[in-house]
Amino acid sequence: MEEQLDLFQLARILIKRKIAVIVGILIGLIIAVSINIYIKPQYEASTQMLFSQGQEASQNQPIQESYQAVLLSERLAQTFSQIISSRTLAERVIDRLKLRIAPEDLEKKVSADPVKDTQLIKLTITDTSPTRARMLANVYTYEFISMTEKAVHHSPLVNISIIEKAAVPSKPVQPKPVLNLILGLCMGFMLGFGFAFLLEMLDTTIKETEEVEKLIGITSLGNVPKISKPLLLDNDNDRSSESFRSIRTNLQYLNFDQSIKTLIVTSPNMGEGKTTTALNLAVVFAQAGTKVLLVDCDLRRPMVGKLFNRDQSKGLSNILVGAAADAGSTLLSTDEEGLHIITSGPIPPNPADLLNSGRMDSLLADLKDQFDLVILDCPPVLGISDTLILASKADAVLAVASFGKTKKTDIVGTRDALGKVGARIVGFIMNGIPYDKRSGYYSYRSYAGHQAVSDVTR
Ligand SMILES: Nc1ncnc2c1ncn2[C@@H]1O[C@H](COP(=O)(O)OP(=O)(O)OP(=O)(O)O)[C@@H](O)[C@H]1O
Ligand SMILES: [Mg+2]
Repeated sequence: MEEQLDLFQLARILIKRKIAVIVGILIGLIIAVSINIYIKPQYEASTQMLFSQGQEASQNQPIQESYQAVLLSERLAQTFSQIISSRTLAERVIDRLKLRIAPEDLEKKVSADPVKDTQLIKLTITDTSPTRARMLANVYTYEFISMTEKAVHHSPLVNISIIEKAAVPSKPVQPKPVLNLILGLCMGFMLGFGFAFLLEMLDTTIKETEEVEKLIGITSLGNVPKISKPLLLDNDNDRSSESFRSIRTNLQYLNFDQSIKTLIVTSPNMGEGKTTTALNLAVVFAQAGTKVLLVDCDLRRPMVGKLFNRDQSKGLSNILVGAAADAGSTLLSTDEEGLHIITSGPIPPNPADLLNSGRMDSLLADLKDQFDLVILDCPPVLGISDTLILASKADAVLAVASFGKTKKTDIVGTRDALGKVGARIVGFIMNGIPYDKRSGYYSYRSYAGHQAVSDVTR
């Protein structure tokens, strides 16, 4: 089971990082093609010689002595292969052919191998010219025989004969284009594999719903695609409206006992889509007939007023410092029936102190009486205490994680920080999922049951 899971994960990484795999394969193929193009073709021409016992010796010889002769011939074959590779023979061939080449360079071209379990020896020349390879192989063989003839001349035991003369090779032995391409492909795949895993290791951002669920042990309430227009008041049939409606449905199921009247929307860091989510959720809840209030609790970078084109000079901070008589005087209606907003008001120097005040507690209690649902658009969790203060006062928290932006460690840190103040995190949503034009789906793995991804088409 464990092994199956690993293979599954492996396949998923390769599919996810297919570009890296393709780049690796391309590099492998380019190297193979370059080798095929730039390596000079090398040709091999070979001769074969037989070492056998002389006629005189073989006649009327007892079997044992004849066997000794075979052994001797084999040993001689090995000795002769050493002679073939010798400097002296190379010099003789150079003299004979008047070659302008150093003996040590010629030595590199020749090789001699006794053929196993036979009395044969194979002499091979490797050269960039097929005709020169043939000529050198034949001359080398003749020179070798004439050089060694003297040594064995007086022995009746050994004969050396040429079994096969060298022919002009028709095909080069190097490079081997097909083999190189196959090797390039294999090495390229391994390289791509390495790239894919390196990228996976270096990428610490979240991209998969299920992965986040496993990481923080909190349920996904849905996925929001990348959208061109963040405020969806009049985009009823837009695919992103559909995803917010799906999140609304999941929240309604979770809130079957009406225990959630104040809902915080937050995320680990800045710019991950908290305001976009809070605002659109407020819209879709209002569209479902819920009496909703959206409060801009971000007293550092307020956006709600701006997005609704409303004056932000009178809002939450006024109530919290006691400048506004009551919440009612700061309530603003919107074009969406059933949706009201309270903007941030002027930015105060001490947001955390104001949010921690008793006035905030009584404001929330008051608003809960007036509305079915109060959505609080909050600042990020990490680095500032504002949201943690509010999280201890609100009924529930919805965490936003941004696709390819929010780091895994940050979402874990956010869960831990919220957990410490006793907040109830009802779920998280993955925001800003890119649309895959080719497949027609969003590039995330959907969480079965939460969202009918296939319905969400462009
Ligand atoms: N799903 C989305 N698709 C496209 N753009 C998005 C999406 N969600 C948010 N954005 C854009 O990202 C930017 C930041 O979004 P938003 O203001 O909602 O984030 P935030 O978490 O509230 O930021 P801050 O921490 O500053 O309050 C905005 O320009 C917004 O339009
Ligand atoms: Mg915001």
